[in-house]
Amino acid sequence: MNDTLNAAVPPIARLAIDGDRLWQSLTHLARIGATPLGGVKRLALTDLDRQGRDQVVAWFEAAGLEVRIDQIGNIFGRRAGADASRAPVVAGSHIDTQPSGGRFDGSYGVLAGLEVVRTLNDRGVRTVAPIEIAVWTNEEGTRFTPVMMGSGAFAGVFTLEHVLARADLDGESVGEALRRIGYAGTAPLGAPIGAYFEAHIEQGPILEATGTTIGVVTGALGQRWFDVAVSGTNAHAGPTPMEARRDALLAAALLVGEVNRIAREQGPDGRGTVGYLQVSPNSRNVIPGEARFSVDFRHPSAAGLAAMEGALRAACAAVAREYRVEVAVDEVVQFPPCRFDADCVGAVRAAAQALGLSHRDIVSGAGHDAVYVARVAPAAMIFVPCKDGVSHNELEDARPEHLAAGCDVLLQAMLARAGVA
Ligand code: HGY
Ligand code: MN
Ligand code: MN
Repeated sequence: MNDTLNAAVPPIARLAIDGDRLWQSLTHLARIGATPLGGVKRLALTDLDRQGRDQVVAWFEAAGLEVRIDQIGNIFGRRAGADASRAPVVAGSHIDTQPSGGRFDGSYGVLAGLEVVRTLNDRGVRTVAPIEIAVWTNEEGTRFTPVMMGSGAFAGVFTLEHVLARADLDGESVGEALRRIGYAGTAPLGAPIGAYFEAHIEQGPILEATGTTIGVVTGALGQRWFDVAVSGTNAHAGPTPMEARRDALLAAALLVGEVNRIAREQGPDGRGTVGYLQVSPNSRNVIPGEARFSVDFRHPSAAGLAAMEGALRAACAAVAREYRVEVAVDEVVQFPPCRFDADCVGAVRAAAQALGLSHRDIVSGAGHDAVYVARVAPAAMIFVPCKDGVSHNELEDARPEHLAAGCDVLLQAMLARAGVA
């Protein structure tokens, strides 16, 4: 390192991000799709998602990053390193949200990566490996399934043809939506990543309840998602005797209770949720002939997930017999429990320790893009607390000092892997 740079660059350990600038960026991005209770609704590949993407790309370019878009719309901003032959050290997450989303889920990981770059720029720090920030397409999987679509395509979990053909309830495909918003990129799917770090709010209660600032995320629960379709017979609510009915909604309601029972039977870490229910014809004096609902199972072990799926299928068969309806169970997406790379997890833990921040190991109950990136690169995550552990809710909130602390850990962990020229 030459003398000029030596004099300009402070000891790396004292390098600190600008928490106010990070907070301002989060507040600015949250205005795009803002909802009345302080949340954000920016569904994947909508015009609001386009506006959010355009804003982030503008910030990337203003920070001197070279921007590329891949064929599923993933955005990458690259900051050159001294050794262009090294694979980049990447920070990323998503900016699409749930319908009742908050301002931190996903956006924090992207803007924390941007804050790392802005800090390196301000202090004239040159890394050995390039640095990149990734914005993954459709992490939430709420408008288009599967969940974590862009990172999954990047990691080869899904083929490009499969995900481009996925359509929303109005029939618009991912490919059509990408073209409509101008993010049907040309960069090929997949690229070398030297190490990947994702900063994220915990979206659960543990860090706040234990007064811990940093979650050193060692892995994530496995997940299995299903669509269940119940078919009975539309009939008149008056003349049809109770024992003569083929009531699809009644059968579905019983199965919703079964999903909850199955999850509770799988011990403290089993999770079962029915978040989506559609009834037809949805008329107060017609016995419903059709009902469709979603099932989201999660568990720390593959055996637990298999047991939950088996119990669901058995419950569906039993209800179908007893209520004389047809029940179809289709798997939508599944991925096994994930363990993150020990060296990357160690870099997160060491950074938290060096910064004197309270920290604890934690397993993520939520899926994240890091889960799929971990298939093709060493990856780890950094959690910070969120208020009351609430997320996927407009009231989602986090403290500026926690967000800044997580971003400082991200900076130090990335530098530990990228090296300083
Ligand atoms: O569903 C999840 O775990 C993530 O929030 N998409
Ligand atoms: Mn998220
Ligand atoms: Mn989410």
